[in-house]
Amino acid sequence: MSLDRYAVVGNPIGHSLSPRIHALFAEQTSQHIVYEARLGRLDHFTEDVRAWFREGLRGLNITVPFKEEAWRLVDQHSHRAERAGAVNTIWAEADGRLTGDNTDGAGFLRDLTQRLGFDPADRAILILGAGGATRGLLEPLLCAAPAHLVIANRTPEKARRLQQDFADLAGGARLEASGLEDIPAGPYDLLINATAAGLGSDGLALPRGLLHAQGIAYDLVYGPAARVFLEWAEAQGARTVTDGLGMLVEQAAEAFAIWRGVRPDTAPVLAAIRATAAAG
Ligand code: ATR
Repeated sequence: MSLDRYAVVGNPIGHSLSPRIHALFAEQTSQHIVYEARLGRLDHFTEDVRAWFREGLRGLNITVPFKEEAWRLVDQHSHRAERAGAVNTIWAEADGRLTGDNTDGAGFLRDLTQRLGFDPADRAILILGAGGATRGLLEPLLCAAPAHLVIANRTPEKARRLQQDFADLAGGARLEASGLEDIPAGPYDLLINATAAGLGSDGLALPRGLLHAQGIAYDLVYGPAARVFLEWAEAQGARTVTDGLGMLVEQAAEAFAIWRGVRPDTAPVLAAIRATAAAG
C-alpha cells in the first residue's frame, strides 16, 4: 500500500516542528500518511511545488519565506486566503488544479478561544506589526466582534493600509491605525506581538499601562524569540502570556482536518511538542 504523502516547505526548514505535529495527529487519528520537511529552493519555488503535486503529493504546508509566492502560484484561493494575501496550505483538486488556503488566522483564534478561554467580543485588542502575520489575523479577529482593535506599526502607513483594507469587516468595532509612538491609550485586554522584533535594548520600546491587569499577551513566534516580549508583559502584570506554539499546532490541525476529513485533538499534541521544546 502506498501512503498518501504530505510535506512542509520552507527555507530554512531543518527546525520545523510540522513533521512531528502531523505524525502525532496521524497516530492519534489512525491515518496512514507520510509527512516530511522539504527545503524550498528560493529561485525555483513555483516549478518545484508544481512538480511535487504532479508526482502525487497530496498536500503541502508553506512556511517562511514562501507564503506570498504560494499565494501567487495556486490556481484558486479559499476566501480566507484571498483576504490574507498569503497561503500556508495547498491541495490538489480532482482535476489537478491547486487550491490555496490560509489556516493561520483560524489557528490563532482557536488557540485564543479554546486553550486560553479568551472571547474577543466587546474587548480591546492591540496588534503590534502590520506585515503578513497581522494581515492573516484581521479577518477572524474582526469577525469575533471586538469593541476596539488597534494596529500599531513602526511604519504607520502600513498600519493605515490594513485599516483601509479591512474597514468593511469592522462592523461595530472601532478599527484604528497608529505608529508605535502614538498608540491610543490602553488598557488593552489582548496585546499581540506580530512584529519580527523582540523587545529590549534594540527592540520595541512600549509605554507602560498598555495592558489590562487581567490581560493576555500573545507573541506569534515561539521559543526564545518570544522571550523578551513575554517577560515585559509579565512585568506589566499580564494575567496570561503565551508564545505562538499553540497557534502553530492549531493551524496544523486545521490543515490536517481539511486534508484528511478528521480533526485531531490538539491539547495532547501541544503538550508533547512543548515538552520536547523545553527539553531541547
Ligand atoms: P510577517 O510576515 O512575519 O508579518 P513582515 O511582513 O516582514 O513579516 O512584517 C514584519 C513586521 O515587523 C512589520 O510590521 C515590521 O515593521 P515595518 O512595517 O515598519 O517594517 C515589524 N518590525 C520588524 N522589525 C522591527 C523593529 N525592529 N521594530 C519594530 N517593528 C519591527
